[in-house]
Amino acid sequence: MIDEALWREAAGNVSWYRAPQVLLDDRNPPFYRWFPDGELNACYNALDVHVESGRGSQDALVYDSPVTDTRRRYTYAELLAEVALFAGALAARGVVKGDRVLIYMPMVPEALIAMLACARLGAIHSVVFGGFASHELAVRIDDAAPRVIVSASCGIEPSRVVSYKPLLDGAIDIARHKPECCIVLQRAAEQAPLQEGRDIAWSDAMANAEPAPCTPVAANDPLYILYTSGTTGQPKGVVRDTGGSVVALKWSMRAIYDVEPGDVYWAASDVGWVVGHSYIVYGPLLQGCTTVLYEGKPVGTPDPGAFWRVISDYGVKVMFTAPTAFRAIKKEDPHGVYLRRHDLSCLKALFLAGERCDPHTLEWATEQLGVPVIDHWWQTETGWPICSNCLGIEQLPIVPGSPARAVPGYDVQVLDDNGAPVASGDIGALVIRNPLPPGTFITLWQADARFVDAYFSRFPGYYETGDAGYIDDNGYVFVMARTDDVINVAGHRLSTGAIEEVLADDEDVAECAVIGVADPMKGQLPLGLLVVNAGASIDDDALVARAIAHVRDRIGPVAAFKQCAVVARLPKTRSGKILRGTMRSIADGEPWKMPATIDEPAILDEIAAALARLGYPHG
Ligand code: COA
Ligand code: AMP
Repeated sequence: MIDEALWREAAGNVSWYRAPQVLLDDRNPPFYRWFPDGELNACYNALDVHVESGRGSQDALVYDSPVTDTRRRYTYAELLAEVALFAGALAARGVVKGDRVLIYMPMVPEALIAMLACARLGAIHSVVFGGFASHELAVRIDDAAPRVIVSASCGIEPSRVVSYKPLLDGAIDIARHKPECCIVLQRAAEQAPLQEGRDIAWSDAMANAEPAPCTPVAANDPLYILYTSGTTGQPKGVVRDTGGSVVALKWSMRAIYDVEPGDVYWAASDVGWVVGHSYIVYGPLLQGCTTVLYEGKPVGTPDPGAFWRVISDYGVKVMFTAPTAFRAIKKEDPHGVYLRRHDLSCLKALFLAGERCDPHTLEWATEQLGVPVIDHWWQTETGWPICSNCLGIEQLPIVPGSPARAVPGYDVQVLDDNGAPVASGDIGALVIRNPLPPGTFITLWQADARFVDAYFSRFPGYYETGDAGYIDDNGYVFVMARTDDVINVAGHRLSTGAIEEVLADDEDVAECAVIGVADPMKGQLPLGLLVVNAGASIDDDALVARAIAHVRDRIGPVAAFKQCAVVARLPKTRSGKILRGTMRSIADGEPWKMPATIDEPAILDEIAAALARLGYPHG
């Protein structure tokens, strides 16, 4: 049962060129289409509408960059002018509705400007997180086939300047698809060499541009593609449509986060992740809030008081980040000494997501901040929260360890392996009954069959989230673990399968396994186990060093792949399946049972010894 009244009302709060008469086209499940006859523009709803309604002089964006010692504010009128001009610069390079534009940038205002400029033209942006290296970027270039790539000379990590341009050039060299043009933002920390005939500096592109108007698009035209990790090295290109995104994200700002136009909202994430798309860029701007773009870390830029400074400097009402950020702060400032140096009376709530929130971190944050700390659960695929305590509807009691109940629009259930509902409190696969609400993914880019196969085939009539968990008697959902090879490292979603593919590429590696082991700060960390080819002459330490360098080079530093060991054999079932789950339990020091189907039980002793040499289990 869909809540027709809710979505009709939510759609009524959006500006349409053609208001939709049809709410949902459900003729071709699971390809549901919301507002199919509507026409709108996402950038118009994020910027123009506020300027036209008299909010032009309100701050739309504040950029705070401790790593470059820069702060900049953009009013809605200023941001609109920049976006319209950059849209003109893209249009001058031939970008039209439906074209893809890939954005590979650090956390600078120009990243957000480029995204909105694409939306203005009806072009489809695909933002790639800056922590990915050339090979990962190349895979995305080939899949999205962008006409233009927008990038920057460098990103700034606390420990180093990351040269983006050589990574981009390397990716274009590897990729089969070649973009016609690259627009490169030259940053003060480093100037990138530009390739004659292909590259142009951001400033030059803007200097000669004419502002572009909004292009009306159909509600079901894609707003963006965002790649996320699946079980293999081929990432999934999550496609979100324009009408559903605008309606759902705007609705969520009030219903879930309880923010009004004019409020300051801060998601401390990165524009390369779904949190950045939904709650740094679109959500807050659609709602007429001021959004904060923070180029820094929770600790070390310069100290564990960085978040508190930003909250008090800009009057942040609601903040959103990953639990790992709070674990990092807690480690350096367990008693909140830095916190008490700032006036945080503006802050009304903290939302956490991206990984399981351990009750201890939630309790510590609540104690320190004295405001509701809300764990909420969602995914790149859904684009906005599946389960949350919806502060704008009714605040429910907070139960640490649970992201509370399903948000209106999601019918969350738990099924067993045979697809039958389990009793309350029993663990099973977390699924959502079709149709998913507006603003969730409509397909995978040019991979309709993979969309059906990966998400809708195991449990007919349901979307399979890939998470396992249970629902208690009060309807509270508990998300416990992934059911696939996805791991969550510092709130970043990674595929162990993709890391294994890189390791297996080494000529001296016969086979390998990567498991996600528990880490007190980052939640999980990948750990690799390698079996050397018979006759290989390389020594173990050299092979491990090469494997670590290879993953950093191919996937990028974000993989945080630093732990690896050579073992004689891998434990397998008689049918040849590697027992990753058992190895993970050994590493985490959890109780485990000898699998009945194991071929040689003694191998697990060898694995335990190798893990012990790497320091597992901890303590
Ligand atoms: N460009 C280039 N490199 C990047 C990068 C970027 N945009 N982002 C991260 N990296 C690099 C880091 O420098 C680090 O490299 P190193 O191995 O040389 O140290 C590596 O990728 C791993 O980064 P990260 O996982 O972010 O670890 P960290 O130790 O730098 O910081 C935290 C740890 C917890 C402080 C940080 O991950 C954090 O703030 N996370 C919470 C917020 C968040 O982003 N959540 C995402 C979803 S909500
Ligand atoms: P991503 O697509 O990067 O947002 O990662 C989504 C995955 O992160 C989910 O499928 C979960 O495994 C995990 N996740 C996100 N939020 C939560 C949460 N609040 N509790 C538990 N796991 C979460």
